[in-house]
Amino acid sequence: MQIINGKETALEIRKELAQAVASRKAAGKKIPHLAAILVGNDGGSMTYVGAKVKACEEIGFESTLIRFEDSITEEELLNKVNELNLDQEIDGFIVQLPLPAHIDEKKITLAIDPKKDVDGFHPENLGNMVLDLPGFLPATPAGIIELLRRYNIETSGKNCVVVGRSHIVGMPVSIMLGRNTNPGNCTVTLAHSRTQNLEELCANADILIAAIGKPLFIKENMVKEGAVVIDVGTTRVPDASKKSGFRLRGDVDYDNVAEKCSFITPVPGGVGPMTIASLMMNTLRAMELNGK
Ligand code: GUN
Repeated sequence: MQIINGKETALEIRKELAQAVASRKAAGKKIPHLAAILVGNDGGSMTYVGAKVKACEEIGFESTLIRFEDSITEEELLNKVNELNLDQEIDGFIVQLPLPAHIDEKKITLAIDPKKDVDGFHPENLGNMVLDLPGFLPATPAGIIELLRRYNIETSGKNCVVVGRSHIVGMPVSIMLGRNTNPGNCTVTLAHSRTQNLEELCANADILIAAIGKPLFIKENMVKEGAVVIDVGTTRVPDASKKSGFRLRGDVDYDNVAEKCSFITPVPGGVGPMTIASLMMNTLRAMELNGK
């Protein structure tokens, strides 16, 4: 059994990006600039956005954090999105989700210029992904693919089960793994809350991707001997022994499953750090795609 070390892989990618920034600087070229919009004070969102800004600093990217109160109107937020769309200095930006209930997330996502949509959430980018056209791939699925690539995990012809059909992880990763690319060429089943015989289905998977947000959902009996298990779950559960008062829990019952696997990602330190690394790769690409 091999543990897939996402933290280490993400660090490797950050080093590669820092080198790319250094060569751009030396050549007198523009440095990538990522902006992030954060609405409200949700603990998880603040942590994630903070980590994105910190990653920019470490790599040498410019970053701008734009914060709004929960009370911001949809129109005000749309105005800010339009401003960032037009800002020549900003190469890519994200609007951290979730947004307050009175704001329509779809409307906001649609308002982002697809050329600056480094989250890859805009329908134009999702369409490009389906058609194998250039565009931005959503960060978490792209991070999963990058882990499979860098660990030389064979995917072609494999039976892959994705559990969870969210628009930002399950659905896109199922499409990416089914494409005629490497990694890819899997036979993919996208399982969800209405799926029948889920346990049996999972137990037949060569590659099992858990992205449902239910701690310890994937048990030992649901994992085939020698399977590759990718755990996307990051539920915050209370833990008094931690300074922050909580710890992250994956969707996989790691302690009982790990021994059966050929490869497995831990939580934390698996897929999580890769999401930010992919976002940074997308930001560098955004600048290059826009001819800067
Ligand atoms: N909320 C949870 N994950 C993400 C992400 O990758 N990007 C944004 N913008 N919001 C999120």
